[in-house]
Amino acid sequence: MRSHLCGEINEELDGESVTVCGWVDRRRDLGGLIFIGLRDRAGVVQVVVEPDSTAFAAAERLRNEYCVRIHGKVRMRPENQWNESMATGKVELLADEVELLNASAPIPLLMTDEDGEEVRLRYRYLDLRRPRMQRNMLIRAALNRAIHRNLDTQGFAEFETPILTKATPEGARDYLVPSRVHAGQFFALPQSPQLFKQLLMMAGMDRYYQIARCFRDEDLRADRQPEFTQLDMEMSFVDEAGVQTAAEELIQAVFSDVLAHELPLPFPRMTWREAMEEYGSDKPDLRYEMRLESVDEHVKHIDFRVFSGPANDNAQRVAALRVPGGAKFSRKQIDTYTAFVAHHGAKGLAWIKVIDTQTGLEGLQSPIAKFLDAAAWTGIATQTGVQDGDLLFFGAGDWLQTSTFMGHLLVRCGEDLELASEGWKPLWVTDFPMFDWDEEGARYVAMHHPFTAPVTASPEALRADPANALSRGYDMVLNGAEIGGGSIRIHKADLQQVVFELLGISEDEAQAKFGFLLEALKYGCPPHGGIAFGLDRIAALMAGERSIRDVIAFPKTTTAQCPLTDAPSAISASQLDELHIRVKADAED
Ligand code: AMO
Ligand code: AMP
Repeated sequence: MRSHLCGEINEELDGESVTVCGWVDRRRDLGGLIFIGLRDRAGVVQVVVEPDSTAFAAAERLRNEYCVRIHGKVRMRPENQWNESMATGKVELLADEVELLNASAPIPLLMTDEDGEEVRLRYRYLDLRRPRMQRNMLIRAALNRAIHRNLDTQGFAEFETPILTKATPEGARDYLVPSRVHAGQFFALPQSPQLFKQLLMMAGMDRYYQIARCFRDEDLRADRQPEFTQLDMEMSFVDEAGVQTAAEELIQAVFSDVLAHELPLPFPRMTWREAMEEYGSDKPDLRYEMRLESVDEHVKHIDFRVFSGPANDNAQRVAALRVPGGAKFSRKQIDTYTAFVAHHGAKGLAWIKVIDTQTGLEGLQSPIAKFLDAAAWTGIATQTGVQDGDLLFFGAGDWLQTSTFMGHLLVRCGEDLELASEGWKPLWVTDFPMFDWDEEGARYVAMHHPFTAPVTASPEALRADPANALSRGYDMVLNGAEIGGGSIRIHKADLQQVVFELLGISEDEAQAKFGFLLEALKYGCPPHGGIAFGLDRIAALMAGERSIRDVIAFPKTTTAQCPLTDAPSAISASQLDELHIRVKADAED
């Protein structure tokens, strides 16, 4: 039907006859001439129809999003009409034939960034016609292609794992599928292929990968969807370095293929403890130069309990954040930041505006300056490297909580003041704690997942001090986003059992849920480990999108619905009956 794509028409085709197909992006009538922007997957080309052309009558009837086929001759635009920002911007297509392939009803959305989420997802097939979305989807396709190419050269083989399966604990709720054949029994959709990829290692299928759909019923955000895609990998006879080397070579290759950007290897490594101490985050954004500084030493002696209390307690800290140029913040802005950290659990936020570093305490504006003495201030000023015109924020209290809210503040100030450097800043975060203490449930939960190996290989040592145990887990972080996470796994049944026990999973429960895994561990399981990347997150970063919804063809809303198909929806009484399910009366509307 066509000889070229719209986006391919350029000056090299000057004088040639071409046929293109696409949708009317825009139609303008100017002094008897009709201009049509014709769009397809590759871009938009400008079509001109002259009044005496045989195509004029057909062109006059065109409206936005009509689907057409146009034949014509490529010619150069006058130089003063060149549009350098478009690949087709130096030429136009002089039409001699316009064939209407299909008309369009009036378009129910603006087809711009102004459209709301609900309407965009309701008419996703139209929203996806926009150049921005076309580009995003093609970046995603290029990413998938680059992954296959690189993992092939690294000797990985792709295997599929079941979708109808048993629960895999990754910390979210399961999506369940009722069995018709087995009344009252349910499949769970996988939260990840975790257990199957471990079984594949036990099966000798070393170096597995899969682009796998995962399902998690959890609170949704910009970077979370109820169904999302992982690039899932697993290797046998490796340690952390083995997995990390393969993974960073892969990421380097895909950035090179898709964005022609060369990431230097190896990526920097940082322990979880360092990341929390210096960035207040387990996914530090290295594009910011700002750091948290522990200033405890300088304030131990001062007469201000808010600081001296935590400074003299090993489980607490006083963290300072230097905000370059922050002295210009108004009181109102500072109040906004105080409310922001309160939202992340802070009880208060102290601050100092540094007007003049030469005059010591005299040169400060701050509600807490009166509590400081010269020694305290000199110590703080030297350690933070504060300059005239800067602002210091201080958080004090429990080490982890204070680090966390100051970490959020760091990113927030960095964003507000546009302090991020250009480019890509990947790193590995390592040495995570094995367990998190869950206050509500009064029990330990796995920081990664229950199959992650502890640094100590001794079940006794682990049992003796679970609170301080470190895991052999690692995350890959890129520009402040966790793009992947993995670990070396437990490959011995006794250690796995102790971890279940510490997680409060009884022996019976462990047998019922993971009996097959515990059994498989008995038959010569090799040491193994792996990682899974969030493909949607990588695609969103590459496309410069804030939300992963913009790189997923048919995503769900933040309330886990699909406005296009109207899923989830009620099912008929007979279908329910077949599935042995009765819906509670109060859930029916
Ligand atoms: P984890 O749970 O850390 O590890 O997931 C791996 C990566 O998947 C992405 N991700 C998500 N992306 C979009 N929406 C979600 N709801 C979502 N949840 C997670 C993140 C994350 O880094 N089985 C282990 C991996 C392993 O140990 O090998 C796992 O699933 O980018
Ligand atoms: P207060 O003694 O509670 O009136 O607090 C005095 C100053 O210390 C105020 O500026 C508070 O915002 C600040 N502040 C209180 N609690 C904290 C905290 N946990 N971390 C940092 N600053 C705090």
